[in-house]
Amino acid sequence: MHTNRTFTMIKPDAVENGHIGAILEKINAAGFTIKAMKFTQLSQRDAEAFYAVHKERPFFGELVEFMTRGPIVAAVLEKENAVAEFRTLIGATNPEEAAEGTIRKLYASSVGENAVHGSDSDENAAIEAAFHFSGREIF
Ligand code: CMP
Repeated sequence: MHTNRTFTMIKPDAVENGHIGAILEKINAAGFTIKAMKFTQLSQRDAEAFYAVHKERPFFGELVEFMTRGPIVAAVLEKENAVAEFRTLIGATNPEEAAEGTIRKLYASSVGENAVHGSDSDENAAIEAAFHFSGREIF
């Protein structure tokens, strides 16, 4: 995959709280183009596989429970330097540390329930996009 792409999920907390539209608005306003998108729900097996890198962390069980409790929006986004630009837009993992105006500052409630995911590298963006989308679902 191209290095100008990243992968995101609008997480169950933000979906439950009715923030899908506002978050997509901010993503568009920041100049990202949507290359793929779906409204879906992770099974326990999906979440354990997606977050396998965190499986030894003390919060892993909580993370899987949270990410499977309701639907999410998964998307592939494009912009120059997408991974870094998107991480700036969403803010720090912990909303208490997130900069003013960032998506997590506005919509996240805690370090666990933090409204959105953003890939941390081009390599992971490609892996995560491929986890959710087939080639014919990315435009
Ligand atoms: P994200 O960066 O999308 O992917 C890893 C997730 O693990 C992170 O978002 C949080 O949702 C969650 N996470 C990270 N740190 C903690 C923590 N200390 N307690 C609970 N959940 C966490």
